[in-house]
Amino acid sequence: MRVLLTGGLGYIGTHVATALLESGHEVILLDNLVNTSETVLEALKTLAKREGLAAENLTFFEADVRDLEALRFVFTASKPEAVVHLAGLKAVGESVALPLDYYENNVTGTIHLLQVMREQGVFTFVFSSSATVYGEASQPPFTETAPTAPTNPYGRTKRMIEEILSDLAASDDRFRIVSLRYFNPVGAHESGLIGELPRGVPNNLMPYVMQVAAGLREKLHVFGDDYPTPDGTGVRDYIHVVDLARGHVLSLNYAARHPGYEVFNLGRGKGASVLEVIRTFEEVNGTPVPFAIVDRRPGDVAISFAATDKAEQTLGFRAEYDLTDMCRHAWQFQKRLLHEQTER
Ligand code: NAD
Ligand code: UD1
Repeated sequence: MRVLLTGGLGYIGTHVATALLESGHEVILLDNLVNTSETVLEALKTLAKREGLAAENLTFFEADVRDLEALRFVFTASKPEAVVHLAGLKAVGESVALPLDYYENNVTGTIHLLQVMREQGVFTFVFSSSATVYGEASQPPFTETAPTAPTNPYGRTKRMIEEILSDLAASDDRFRIVSLRYFNPVGAHESGLIGELPRGVPNNLMPYVMQVAAGLREKLHVFGDDYPTPDGTGVRDYIHVVDLARGHVLSLNYAARHPGYEVFNLGRGKGASVLEVIRTFEEVNGTPVPFAIVDRRPGDVAISFAATDKAEQTLGFRAEYDLTDMCRHAWQFQKRLLHEQTER
């Protein structure tokens, strides 16, 4: 298929693009570069060539999903048969400070994309939602039918979009839509060529761990050791981004064959605590990660992990990489960046 991948130059987008190329799809990347840069496109092309993938099956449009005219241009020029929609803003704290920016970018952007899809006769759609929609309304393992209660504007944009998608599929049986609720994507492609490049101070655990290991930050702040978990620190379902990307290819194949609307968790169904992540990272990479326990971060839940049965039974999806792979591959990417910086 010719697949339009919005947010295609982002962290997850670059890995999804690689997985789509590996499966023989053509990929049209669309990104407004708000949280990435064109150098990522070069890295992606290098990776494609190195892996023997058809780099000519990769095209890029710099465009914003809110811009109807730009979208019409991209659809007319590239004639996609399906859309994988990853473009969005994703920083929880920023969403609390700038809710209108988040609702406009994430919700309006998605509506405009869907409007243009309908105009242009494209009906297959895969959306990147988040496990953050579960909030504290239910207990893990979270099944896809568990009640949702996001605790911040970012999470509410994801839930609103899910509701819009469900309403749209119910109103027009040409649409074939899948929402994917990602748990905690970490790691990087084994080549070390693509990975997560957070701007400024990282909000998430793994990028922070790596910057401490790299000596860019003094120590990691562990947010609370008094949770009702085995070692008192928060437990999350970390999933390797390459596994997550493979889940998109399976979802796209599913969506293409099934009219209607479905939601799938993408996780491993297994939790790891903050201290386990630190220990694993240190052991696998032989690099110390100094840390200090500080207060809990407001809004954090104690434990989050996925029920994986639906994705396994319906999509045939099962994560293959474990936490040691995630730590090793993330560090390979970080080390390459450090090497490049010292070379310059
Ligand atoms: P990312 O910021 O690396 O990628 C998002 C990309 O979208 C960026 O390249 C950005 O420039 C682009 N973008 C943002 N707004 C745009 C717009 N209006 N038009 C065009 N491009 C736009 O983030 P990511 O981690 O790759 O996340 C991808 C998607 O997955 C997001 O929707 C995010 O909410 C969702 N998600 C991410 C995580 C995670 O932990 N990384 C977890 C759950 C869900
Ligand atoms: C966070 C977001 C969630 C988003 C997800 C994307 C919040 C409240 N939630 O989830 O909406 O979908 O990222 O991956 O921001 N931790 C530390 N020190 C740090 C950073 C994190 O101890 O410097 C701990 C956290 O308390 C948590 C675990 O590490 O227990 C993972 O945190 P993080 O990577 O931010 O992910 P989530 O909190 O699960």
